[in-house]
Amino acid sequence: MAELNIPRAHSNSWYDYLASIQQGYFYPWKSTIGDKNGEQAFLTLLGERLTPESEVLEVGCGHGELSLDHAAYCKHILAYDRVQSYIDLANETKATRQITNVDFICYDATDPGHDEMALPVEENSIDLIFCRRGPMHWIQDVSRVCRDGAFIIALSPMEEPIPAWSSKLPHKMHYENSGRHTGSGSIHQSVENRLHQAGLTLHSGWSFDVPEVFADPVELYRMVTWGLPAAEIPTFEDIKYKFDSIYQKYAETDGIVLRHCRFLWQAKIHH
Ligand SMILES: C[S@@+](CC[C@H](N)C(=O)[O-])C[C@H]1O[C@@H](n2cnc3c(N)ncnc32)[C@H](O)[C@@H]1O
Repeated sequence: MAELNIPRAHSNSWYDYLASIQQGYFYPWKSTIGDKNGEQAFLTLLGERLTPESEVLEVGCGHGELSLDHAAYCKHILAYDRVQSYIDLANETKATRQITNVDFICYDATDPGHDEMALPVEENSIDLIFCRRGPMHWIQDVSRVCRDGAFIIALSPMEEPIPAWSSKLPHKMHYENSGRHTGSGSIHQSVENRLHQAGLTLHSGWSFDVPEVFADPVELYRMVTWGLPAAEIPTFEDIKYKFDSIYQKYAETDGIVLRHCRFLWQAKIHH
């Protein structure tokens, strides 16, 4: 098969390119996600776990939206991400909103320059670690940094079926190459394995699978081309005819329906 010549979705180079074309980490498309989805459930769980005394760590915070939105409900949050421009943006918003109990640092815990993977906090100092759609490297160091009884909660994108129409598009635009695709392995199993290797067990895990509707072909184009270098892909106008025929053949009443799948999980630390 021909060389794809595009960064692997969610690799460091993919994030670095994404950070150069959009201000902060967000999904640039408009769609309608079914109710009772994993994103809503994660925010509810996070809200329930925070107390005014909580010392909190956020992993892979992007441009800091979650930490800033939850600062009022806890004592302090340290949030880190390896992309400097996300941290700069987070600090700008923090200043505008005059929030004083959140600190952002640019840090890559998996940097080969570090001898061992280490979270950027003192041992026995954290009551809650959270991570939304982020990496999983941090799990191996949570026992060291967490206090007895601390919780870790995370929302992981879960494997989604590859839509039948994907193969009608050019190879680079196949669903499997998009930032949305999580790979074919079981995320539930990966989480369990990581926890096991860190001497931890899953406290609770919930799978969510709801519809996500793309009413407009332009938005579907945005989704499948997200994070791809513009020079590598056709413009929407160039490829509109393909999207039109995909909508004709595969759309339901409201548009193209994808699955929106998430695995929400938590673990409790016992010393
Ligand atoms: C899918 S984004 C999610 C961002 C944010 N949590 C949100 O929900 O909007 C994953 C984030 O993890 C960061 N990340 C990935 N690997 C990392 C690492 N080794 N150290 C620090 N941050 C990392 C990326 O830069 C990116 O901002």
